[in-house]
Amino acid sequence: MCGIIGFIGEDNASDILIKGLKALEYRGYDSSGVALGDDGKPKIIKSAGRISVLEEKLASASLPVFHRGIAHTRWATHGGVSDLNSHPHSSDSLSLVHNGIIENYYELESMLRSEGYTFSSETDTEAALMLIDYEYRRLHDPEKAIFKAISGIRGSFAFAIIFNDVKEKIYAVRRQSPLIAAHTNKGSFIASDVTALLPYTKDIYRPEDDVLIILSKDKTEFKNKNGDAVYPISEHVDWNEEEAQKGGFPHFMLKEISEIPDSVRKTVSSYLADGIPYFDAASLKEDNVLNIGRIHVSACGTAMHAGLIGKRLIEELAHIPVNIETASEFRCRSQILDKRDLMIVLSQSGETADTLSSLAYAKERGVNTLAIVNVFGSSIARSADDVIYTKAGPEIAVASTKAYTVQCAVLALIALHLARIKKRMTADEVRTHTILLSSSLPSAIEKVISESDGIKDAANDICNAEHLFFIGRGSDSDVCAEGSLKLKEISYIHSEAYPAGELKHGTISLISDGIPVIACACNEDTCDKMISSIREVRSRGARVTVLTTNKLAKSHAFPCDRIITVDDEGGPYTFLTAASAMQLLAYHASAKKGLDVDKPRNLAKSVTVE
Ligand code: M6R
Repeated sequence: MCGIIGFIGEDNASDILIKGLKALEYRGYDSSGVALGDDGKPKIIKSAGRISVLEEKLASASLPVFHRGIAHTRWATHGGVSDLNSHPHSSDSLSLVHNGIIENYYELESMLRSEGYTFSSETDTEAALMLIDYEYRRLHDPEKAIFKAISGIRGSFAFAIIFNDVKEKIYAVRRQSPLIAAHTNKGSFIASDVTALLPYTKDIYRPEDDVLIILSKDKTEFKNKNGDAVYPISEHVDWNEEEAQKGGFPHFMLKEISEIPDSVRKTVSSYLADGIPYFDAASLKEDNVLNIGRIHVSACGTAMHAGLIGKRLIEELAHIPVNIETASEFRCRSQILDKRDLMIVLSQSGETADTLSSLAYAKERGVNTLAIVNVFGSSIARSADDVIYTKAGPEIAVASTKAYTVQCAVLALIALHLARIKKRMTADEVRTHTILLSSSLPSAIEKVISESDGIKDAANDICNAEHLFFIGRGSDSDVCAEGSLKLKEISYIHSEAYPAGELKHGTISLISDGIPVIACACNEDTCDKMISSIREVRSRGARVTVLTTNKLAKSHAFPCDRIITVDDEGGPYTFLTAASAMQLLAYHASAKKGLDVDKPRNLAKSVTVE
């Protein structure tokens, strides 16, 4: 979702802003813009469409070199995609970019209209802009004006602001929307996330809500609403710039799939001591584990699908009941929560607003919270009582791939940890599983990636389909949910994931001649039943591609049109090998259709609004 970058310092601000916007592109956007100027009203150039359009406009504007600027990628919420609605927005006294949603914009606009203000865009942002302008005219002090204005704003925001008559400063402030700051010998920066700052520094600050950031060439200051200096702790990020680049791959998504084996090895080995899962998280200490009544899992999209795997593993291995609910729905009903419960939230970005709000709901009710997050120091990581980091490195493609697999791997480790503490598994049994997770599973996934011609052919087969079904049983069915989401989001093929046995209770009416069905059958226990389900759809005309293991392909005669096999080295975790095959299937279908694989239409990488 919207991305912000701001810079003041020695270098050409325009170059830094454009480079930063490109690094933030992956968050999802539909327009972009910059405000550049060292003194007086900055020059504003903005445009609907890709950053390349903005670059063309900038080139033809032939601006002099400026050393101060703010820039923005917009993901439309209030008001359509247009030049006018793009940021920065400006008033007579300031220019501003915004990420988030001003919930009381209508109220604010009415008040401001009565004060003589007029509005030219359809955005909620303009209400915040004019409110700051209004307070600035009254108070003649940028800091006081910002604090006064945000005290009247409801909703989420990250603002970067330039005042026309305040030279050599950029102001910024956030509430529930991400914004980081950094200072280097080049100058001061703010950005929505660390990927935009990696070329300059790995040491960043994450100011709390409502802390004012004041950037100048030689320092970055932070102040609270009383005007007192505050000192956020500096964090060192262990990502590098190369990790956030394509590195010779045609798309980030393919690169990130290829990184799955190492991400799994790195993540799993970080949480093992002598082959046994080990976590610092207080909620996973022995006494607390023995006290857990129920576990709640909440997340969105792909992370939610990882949660399904977590539920299955925790219930199966540790016998602790797990309630799972998509985060956007979690607080839409009254949840039965007990202080002995543990709430687990999963998020790659750590900034997903729906997940943050379900986390807050659980915290408000005194439930212990544990976040499994990929981005260090992100909002979810900081809000939860405990955090376990997945070690996938930056994930840039909108379609989440490696983050999913490592989330599942961490959940498997947690399930094993709980099972050992609850004496449902011995340490040796647990070790057998962790060897599978840390070594055999990543090798099996490596083979899927290096021998993916069959998957590519299957993708060519389905890429012109309008509708498609994924079917599976047990964990294969959970993985189908993710395979289907992946295909939908990047190839725009409508697909449904169904537990294979459920299809005959209604949805089978949609199966007709030539409809592609991907049948995932990697589990020996359910293989015969899967074959029956495949027969049911084939006899109604479906073109079936079976995804199974090499071993099951030999022992079972699958009635199908195509078969994709994966190695079963991962043992009970082979469903994750199948998941990688499905990720590749979606990737190749999208690439074959010539679509924008990494930045599919309408989607944002980091969904920071509810
Ligand atoms: O950053 P998060 O893991 O919290 O994001 C949750 C979902 O928005 C995300 O998984 C989304 O579904 C992806 N586009 C899936 O590929």
